[in-house]
Amino acid sequence: MTIELTPPETRTRTESTRLKLASVIPEVEFELFAPYIASINQLKAERNAIVLAHNYMTPEIYHGVADLVGDSLSLADMAAETDADVIVMAGVHFMAETAKLVAPDKTVLIPDLKAGCSLAESITPADIALLRQAYPGAPVVTYVNTSAEVKAASDICCTSGNAVEVVESLGADRVIFLPDEYLGKWVATQTEVEIILWQGHCEVHERFTGEELRSYRAADPEVRIIAHPECPPDVLAEADYVGSTSGMQAYVESNQPAKVVMVTECSMSDNLAVNNPDVDFVRPCNLCPHMKRITLEKILTSLQTMTHAVEIAPDVAEKARVAVERMLAVKRGTGR
Ligand code: 13P
Ligand code: SF4
Repeated sequence: MTIELTPPETRTRTESTRLKLASVIPEVEFELFAPYIASINQLKAERNAIVLAHNYMTPEIYHGVADLVGDSLSLADMAAETDADVIVMAGVHFMAETAKLVAPDKTVLIPDLKAGCSLAESITPADIALLRQAYPGAPVVTYVNTSAEVKAASDICCTSGNAVEVVESLGADRVIFLPDEYLGKWVATQTEVEIILWQGHCEVHERFTGEELRSYRAADPEVRIIAHPECPPDVLAEADYVGSTSGMQAYVESNQPAKVVMVTECSMSDNLAVNNPDVDFVRPCNLCPHMKRITLEKILTSLQTMTHAVEIAPDVAEKARVAVERMLAVKRGTGR
C-alpha cells in the first residue's frame, strides 16, 4: 500500500487558507475544498507551474491556490514575466489566450474551454474589416476581452486599467473602440479623442441600473459606490470611483470606506472582505457564469492531465502579439 504524505509546506498553506477564509467559507464547506487545495499546491511545485487568478475567482481559488492575482492587465504582465514552465489560467479563455501570446514558449492551461465572455462573442475580424472601410485611417483599439483573431485584426489592445492611456497614446483625432460600448463611452468622457463605438456588452455589468444604486445612496448617504467601467453610463454616473477590478481593490484598500457597494461580479467582494475586515461590503450580486466554470476540481484535473493547452495559429498569434505588446508598452494610468 502506498501512502502519499502531504509535504509540510502544502499542509501549511491549506491551514492558513482555512483560517483566512473562516469569515467567508463555513468550516464544513472548507473541508470539501481542503484536499483539492493541498493536491493543487503540491502538483504546482512538481510541474513548476503557477496559477494566475482573476479577481473574480471564488475565494478558495483566489486565496487557496493562486500564486498571483489581478485584473486582466496584471495577468498579462505576470504571464510575460514568470519563470514557471506552466501557467494555469484561473480566468476566462481570452485571458489564457493573452497569456499564451505574451509567453509563447510556456504551456498555458485553461481548466474549462467553455469559460468564454459575452464581449468576446460580440465581434469578429469581418466586423473590424467593415469598420475600417467605414472609418478609413482610424486606428482600431480592441479590449482584451476578445479572441486572438480579433486582436490580430486590431492595431492595439487595451484593458479597463489602461484604456484611456492607450487611446491617447495613438495621437489620433478619432479611434475605433471595440467591442465594449459602455467602456468606450466611459473612455469618451475622459479624453478629447473621438471614439467610434461597437455595441458589445458584458452580460454581468449591463444588468446593474442607476436606480438600484440611487436606492443604496438614499438608504445611507455615506456609502461609497465603486463601479467597473463595463457598466452602463447611468450606473457610472452614480459612482464615486470607476476603475478596473484592481483599481477597485486599490480604492477599497487605501480608502477603507465604512460601507462600500461593489458594482461588479460577486466574488470581488468576498475576496476583498477577507483582507479588509473593517469594510462593510454591500453586494449587489451578479455572477459571471463563465468565470464560475473554473473550480478547484477542474484546476486539479487541468494540472494532472495538462489540459486544455491553449494553441493559437502562428499567423494569428504573430499579429495578435503585436497588438498586445503595444498595449503592454503603454504605461498603466489612474485606471490601475
Ligand atoms: P478587469 O481587467 O478590470 O479585471 O476586467 C476584466 C473583466 O472581464 C471584467 O468583467
Ligand atoms: Fe466577460 Fe463580463 Fe464575464 Fe468579464 S464579467 S468575463 S466581461 S462576461
